[in-house]
Amino acid sequence: MTKPLIAPHGGELILNQASEAERVALLERAQTLPQITVGSRQLADLEMLAIGAYSPLGGFLKRDDYLSVVNTMHLSSGLPWSIPITLPISEEQAANIVEGSQVALVTAEGTVQALLTVEEKYHYDKQLEAQKVYRTEDEAHPGVKVLYQQGDVLLGGPVRVLNLPNQTFAKYRYTPTQSRTLFTERGWQKIVAFQTRNPVHRAHEYIQKCAMETVDGLYLHPLVGDTKGDDIPADVRMRCYEVLLENYYPQQRVILGVLPAAMRYAGPREAIFHALMRKNYGCSHFIVGRDHAGVGNYYGTYDAQYIFAEFDPAALGITPMFFDHTFFCRQCDSMASQKTCPHGSDQHIILSGTKVRQMLQAGEVPPREFSRPEVAKILIDAMRQPVSL
Ligand code: ADX
Repeated sequence: MTKPLIAPHGGELILNQASEAERVALLERAQTLPQITVGSRQLADLEMLAIGAYSPLGGFLKRDDYLSVVNTMHLSSGLPWSIPITLPISEEQAANIVEGSQVALVTAEGTVQALLTVEEKYHYDKQLEAQKVYRTEDEAHPGVKVLYQQGDVLLGGPVRVLNLPNQTFAKYRYTPTQSRTLFTERGWQKIVAFQTRNPVHRAHEYIQKCAMETVDGLYLHPLVGDTKGDDIPADVRMRCYEVLLENYYPQQRVILGVLPAAMRYAGPREAIFHALMRKNYGCSHFIVGRDHAGVGNYYGTYDAQYIFAEFDPAALGITPMFFDHTFFCRQCDSMASQKTCPHGSDQHIILSGTKVRQMLQAGEVPPREFSRPEVAKILIDAMRQPVSL
C-alpha cells in the first residue's frame, strides 16, 4: 500500500494554470485588454502560482491578505504565510486600471503570460513592509532595495497563467504534482527538502546526510530564480550539484529538482516561506541551518530557526530540522558542530564566503575539508570564463 504524502498547504494544490481548452479563448481575450509588463520576480511568482507551489494562493494578494501577511505572518484565513506575493505597478499605470476589470500580464518581449482579474488596487506602506518582512529599512539590503524600487500601487486578484517563463533546467523543473508522483513511486513518505542558493559545500553535505539518516529521501531543491549579483549563477551551481550527487550520494535516496522562485533574502520570514513551498512539493521535513536565507549582518545566526516557535506546528505541517553551524574539525577528523565537538576554534576549518570566492578566483582549490575537489574544480573553471558583456 502506498503511504500518503504530507497534504499541500491549505489541503490541496491550487493550480492557477489555464487548461489547453481555456488557453486559446483567454489568449484571444488578452489581445483586447490593457497590458502590464512584468519583471522576472513576478514572472517567477506566476510560475509558482501556476504549478501550485504557492498553494493556497490563487493570485496576487488583496489588501486584507497583504496586511495580514505583513503584520501577522498569516493569511486572513488564519493559515501561515510569511512573504507577501504582490504585483506592484506605478501610479501612472494604475490610473488606467479599473477594479473589476481584467489585465494581461506580459513579458518585456510582449508575450502574454497571464490574465489577472483586478479585484483590488491599493496603496501600501513600503517602510512597514521593509520593517516587518526584512527587519530593516536599509536600502543596501537586496530585498528592501527591490521593494523600494518597485511601483507604489499593488494589484490584487486571481490569475490564470497562460504561458510559463523560459524553462531552464527543464529536466529538473518538477512541479509539485510531479515531485509528489516521484516521491510516491519511490515509496517515500518522510522527505527532507534542502533549500540552497549556493554550491553544496561539506557543511551543507553534512547536514543533508545527518537528516538523511532519519528520513526516506532527500529532495535537493536549489533555488534558481533571481539571486543577487554576487551569488554563483544557477547553471554553474547545477553542475556542482550533479557532480556531487554522482560521486558522493546514493542515487536511490536523493532527487534533484529546481525551485523557480526568486530569492528575497528575508532570513527568518523566508525560512518559513521556503518551508511552506516545500510542503507543497510533498516534503515532510525542511532543513534550516545557520543564517538561512540571510544576507550581510541583518539577522542573528539562528533567527531563522527561532521564528518557527511563533507558529502552530500543526498549521505549518512541515517539520523543520535545525542544524547548528557545522565545520570540519581537525582533531575530530570529521565534520562537527559545537553540539558534537569539544575542541577549540583553532581546530575548525571555517572559511567565509568572501574568502572562498577570493581563493576560487585566484584558481586556488579550497581545502578538501571545506569543499569536494570536483565541486571546487567546476567553480574555478567557471570563474576563469571570460565575462560576456
Ligand atoms: S540560503 O540562502 O539558501 O539559505 P545557503 O545555500 O548558503 O543559503 O544555505 C542552505 C542551507 O544550509 C540553509 O538552511 C543554511 O542555513 C544552511 N547552512 C549553510 N551553511 C551552513 C553551515 N556551515 N552550517 C550549518 N548550516 C549551514
